[in-house]
Amino acid sequence: MEIFNTKQEIKSYLTAQKERGKTVGLVPTMGALHQGHLSLVNKAKRKNDIVVVSIFVNPTQFDKKEDLTNYPKTIENDTELLKSVSCHVLFFPSVEEIYENQLLSEKFDFDGLEHKMEGKFRKGHFDGVGTIVKTLFKIIEPNKAYFGQKDFQQLQIIKKMVRKNRLNVKIKGCPIFRENDGLAMSSRNTRLSAKQRADAPFIYKTLKKVRAKLISENILEVTEWVENQFKKHPSFNLEYFTIADEKSLETLKNKELNKKYRAFIAVFASKIRLIDNIRL
Ligand code: PAJ
Repeated sequence: MEIFNTKQEIKSYLTAQKERGKTVGLVPTMGALHQGHLSLVNKAKRKNDIVVVSIFVNPTQFDKKEDLTNYPKTIENDTELLKSVSCHVLFFPSVEEIYENQLLSEKFDFDGLEHKMEGKFRKGHFDGVGTIVKTLFKIIEPNKAYFGQKDFQQLQIIKKMVRKNRLNVKIKGCPIFRENDGLAMSSRNTRLSAKQRADAPFIYKTLKKVRAKLISENILEVTEWVENQFKKHPSFNLEYFTIADEKSLETLKNKELNKKYRAFIAVFASKIRLIDNIRL
C-alpha cells in the first residue's frame, strides 16, 4: 500500500496512474476504522482500479472541542486494516497540509438540507464536512467517491454539493454495516462503557419497532412512543427522532405512499453521541 502525507505527492502519483487509464475511487474517513469503513473500501475496489482511503480528523466539522480531542486516533491499526483488504493508497495528511494556516470552513448553501436534523444540533458541522470533502475531491480528483448511509444526511448533502458545483465525480451511497446485535458500527462505539455498549442495540431495536408500528399507527403516535421509550431508558438521552423524506429531509406528519422516507435518530449515552436511521 502506498502512503502519502502531502497533496503534491499523492497528486503526482495519481496523475501518472490516470495517464495510464486507471480509474480512482475515494473513500473519505476520519480513521478509527471498522468493518463499516472496510465495506466501503471493498465496494470501491470492485468498481475502480485504484482505491484511495483518506484518514483526516477534520477539525472544522466538530462543533464541540471535546469531541474533537476525544475522537479516537488509531493510525497504526488503521494502516494494518487497510493493508489486510489490499487497499491501494492511504492519504494521511496533517491539519496544516490541508488547511495551511487558515482553519476555516467555506460557507455552503445546500438548499436547506444543512438546517435539518444534524444541522440543527451541530452548528457549522456541514460547512466543515463540505469544505473537507470538496478539498479532497480537488486533490484526488476521483471518478467515484463512497459514503455510508449511516450518515444519511451527509450523503445527501455531498450529492447536493456535487450537483450544485457540477463536480465531476459520482457519489455512491453504501448500506449501514451493523454489529451482530444490530448496533450501527461507529468509531465512537469504542468510547462506550461496557454497560452502555450492552444497552446500545436498543437504538436499532427501537427503529425496527418503528417500522413495524407504522403499518397500523400514524407518525405522531409512533414518534411519541419513541420519545417515551427513551424517557424510560436509564442509559440514553434522546436528542431527536424524526421521520423524514429521503430527498428533502423534511419531517413528515403523515404517511405518503409516493414518498421514500426514513426514521432518523440521535441519542446521547452520557457524552457520546450515536446516530442511526432506517428505511421505512
Ligand atoms: P467517518 O465517520 O470516519 O466515516 C467515513 C465514512 O464511513 C462515511 O461515509 C460514513 O457514513 C461511513 N460509515 C461509518 N460507519 C458506517 C457503517 N456502520 N456502515 C456504513 N458506512 C459507515 O463521515 C465521516 O467520517 C466524515 O464526516 C468525512 C466524510 C470523512 C469528512 O470528514
